[in-house]
Amino acid sequence: MRKVQFTETILRDANQSLMATRLPYADYAEILPVMDQAGYYSIECWGGATFDSCLRYLNEDPWERLRNLRKNLPNNKLQMLLRGQNLLGYKHYHDDVVEKFIQLSIQNGIDVIRIFDALNDFRNCETALNATLKYATPNTVASGCISYTQSPVHTVDKYIQMCKELKAMGFQTICLKDMAGTMTPYEAEHLIKGIKDAVGDMPLVLHTHSTTGMAYMTLIKAVEAGIDVIDTATSCFSGGTSQPATETMFYTLQQYGIETGLDEDKINAVNDYFKPIKQKYLDNGQMNPKSLGTDAQALVYKVPGGMLSNMIANLTDMKAMDKFEAALTEIPQVRADMGYPPLVTPLSQMVGNQAVTNVLVGQRYKQISKEIQNYIKGEYGITPAPVSEDLVRQVLGEGGKPVDCRIEDQKRTGADFDIAAEALGDLARSEEDIMSYICFPNQTLAYLKARKAQEENEAVYTIEEM
Ligand code: CO
Repeated sequence: MRKVQFTETILRDANQSLMATRLPYADYAEILPVMDQAGYYSIECWGGATFDSCLRYLNEDPWERLRNLRKNLPNNKLQMLLRGQNLLGYKHYHDDVVEKFIQLSIQNGIDVIRIFDALNDFRNCETALNATLKYATPNTVASGCISYTQSPVHTVDKYIQMCKELKAMGFQTICLKDMAGTMTPYEAEHLIKGIKDAVGDMPLVLHTHSTTGMAYMTLIKAVEAGIDVIDTATSCFSGGTSQPATETMFYTLQQYGIETGLDEDKINAVNDYFKPIKQKYLDNGQMNPKSLGTDAQALVYKVPGGMLSNMIANLTDMKAMDKFEAALTEIPQVRADMGYPPLVTPLSQMVGNQAVTNVLVGQRYKQISKEIQNYIKGEYGITPAPVSEDLVRQVLGEGGKPVDCRIEDQKRTGADFDIAAEALGDLARSEEDIMSYICFPNQTLAYLKARKAQEENEAVYTIEEM
């Protein structure tokens, strides 16, 4: 019997796409034993924006969260999303940092590491892949991930070529990551058939978003074309900028006579559990109903859900929501000028912010963000198509050329660890604390100071009680 398995995304991508990753561990701790028995291929629960959000907003140690997930999900594969050489941040880290991060992630409980590069410059995934294979347990899966986008230079042949490259590098599965939800059913069919023909023995995963309303049709065509794993979210956290619903796809595939491995009662119990949690965040405004709707305009703007909600938040902060439509319209132009980068973090934010700046300033590229200047210098990798000559000239000067920054990345200086250890002093109690600081210095320092203060308060309190 044909089998298609499910990755449940409620704890990471649904959480990130619908409510800016503000779901605290305490909200879902109770349901983990049920999720553990639901029969998912994996539970995506870490990485992406969860790490930053834990430290910045939730006063949680992301590593402790991971250990708790591991303890309470003993029978499931725990999955994380990792931006290759950028780890979970927005810059390229040194190779020794990347390697240590992967080692700690596996040691603290991660099984599936989905590794991508925003530009599909897979040289940026190499160190993370090698570290994953080096520290692998029998449950570890190194998943090579392609950032899907449409542009004149992103053809089916190009994607097949990318898959061959990932396979040759040593990845064990391949994931197509359609972060904007713009993959159409027709494209899914052709793409997946093509990939299956070319690298048929590699398990293939499709990750998409319901943003444009395409996702269910796209998933069904993907299933018909031979996909092995699909990403879905429990139904009350599905739809809109999140994934299609787990239960809906389960019942559909049941009719197809396809085995899913899912336990019907368990997946329904998971949804029942999350319903009042969703209501709580709708009521307090943390979840914006706007993100739950269908927006077919994304088929024009190619804007992923997270980027859309970030833009809304930024423009609301600046009291400039009246510029929302103009900023959306500006995005395709910025993207073309930048050589058609896929709109995935951090490029989605960079392109989005530049589009907002162009609109607010009232003149295109009068101000160019530091990040985009670095991108044009070549610091993010090779762009899918060349950057517009005007932009190159403006940033690099007449005759300027982008540089290849991989050599700089590969340095194994150890310096990042020394700097972190010195900055933290006795605030750091583990390699994980040091690693958090390297990734997010300000947030980690604030978190560790708060942790220490809290412990001292508790200690005083205990003495008084005695
Ligand atoms: Co996603």
